[in-house]
Amino acid sequence: MSQPNPRAAWLLMPLLMSACVTPRPDVPRLPPDPLIAADGSMIKTAEQWRQSRRPEILEQFRRHMYGRSPEPTEVRIEEMSESLALDGKAQRKQWRVRYDDAEHAFFEVLMYLPVNASKPVPAFLGLNFFGNQSIHSDPGIRMPTTWMRNDKKIGVTNDRANESTRGKRASRWPVEKILARGYGLVTVYYGDIDPDFDDGFINGVHGVLDPPLAGKRATDAWGSIAAWAWGLSRVLDTLEMDADVDAEHIAVLGHSRLGKTSLWAGAQDERFAMVISNDSGCGGAAYSRRRSGETIKVINRVFPHWFCTAFRAFDDREDQLPIDQHLLIAAIAPRPAYIASAAKDSWADPEGEFLSTLGADPVYRLLGTDGLPATKMPPVDQPVHGQLGYHVRAGKHDLTWQDWQQYLTFADRHFR
Ligand code: GCU
Repeated sequence: MSQPNPRAAWLLMPLLMSACVTPRPDVPRLPPDPLIAADGSMIKTAEQWRQSRRPEILEQFRRHMYGRSPEPTEVRIEEMSESLALDGKAQRKQWRVRYDDAEHAFFEVLMYLPVNASKPVPAFLGLNFFGNQSIHSDPGIRMPTTWMRNDKKIGVTNDRANESTRGKRASRWPVEKILARGYGLVTVYYGDIDPDFDDGFINGVHGVLDPPLAGKRATDAWGSIAAWAWGLSRVLDTLEMDADVDAEHIAVLGHSRLGKTSLWAGAQDERFAMVISNDSGCGGAAYSRRRSGETIKVINRVFPHWFCTAFRAFDDREDQLPIDQHLLIAAIAPRPAYIASAAKDSWADPEGEFLSTLGADPVYRLLGTDGLPATKMPPVDQPVHGQLGYHVRAGKHDLTWQDWQQYLTFADRHFR
């Protein structure tokens, strides 16, 4: 699904500023070469990138990996509620995004905006794993009623959220600190869009929008990652209707499988002004050809519903893929993108996540930005910020305040 881009003008800004930024000879090109088209021709201009190579890359990701999403549907805002929250520091809005007339064809959005910031406010948008109520103990947050994976630590039982789950994931969502820096925060429970288990694509958005299953699904039919990404774009549709939020400055962010999702959402939908992918690993930022940590074969076996079935042809055949994950990051260019790893997260392959970030650099430079101001993987806890950002944080697979501090600084650099 490619989205029309009403803001091509600001996307072209770096081109106008460029003068003479050239690809660096000290950074080897990762295969498949971002600047060589499938027919072997060289991509030498920003125009060629935009007109032919980027669409070609997105099409390959659709056909071989994430699957093809339906066109955007008209969305409606329902059950909007608004109130002061968090000791008067926040304006809290909640609404349903309705994307079809079918009974369950909606998901719930929670948004906090700082009360004392001048409107419209730039914001971070990210999906969450255990419901909007899990991100903060605020008693006013609506409780999801959809399926949720049981979890002892969070307190989910009987596949449903309950009061005891409020605020259990607050460590990943430093709401007050985000607001204090002048940003809003928008979140949706990912299972509201598509429950995360292999049910044959009956439930969630697939069940509503897919043609009735007569026989087999197409090998490039969209999987769950594509469904979550599609949902993020529909949330953005509704943010564009809200004068309090600056829909032209939305950073789409995600952790782990939702970091894979933020990349695919941001790569396709150019309305996202910034993309942040935290510990996304295989099928996210990690360079698949390294085959380090989780591999394509393993991810396809354990999570058969995440990608399209055509992706299985590349189990143990990474070198045959016409794409790799540096091209996904490149498809975001020239918009700012930040990739983060955790040192103890070998399953997600930090080196591979860095390599893809660096591998996108030639495209960022072709488009007139500074790309990633590094040629080697930086040491632990030494972030690098350019038009591309990267850090490897000490510690394990998680989204922490340390990660957020970098994202806030990165947003200040590009949004202010
Ligand atoms: C598993 C999976 C990863 C994924 C992670 C998560 O570890 O193998 O690919 O990123 O779950 O989303 O938490």
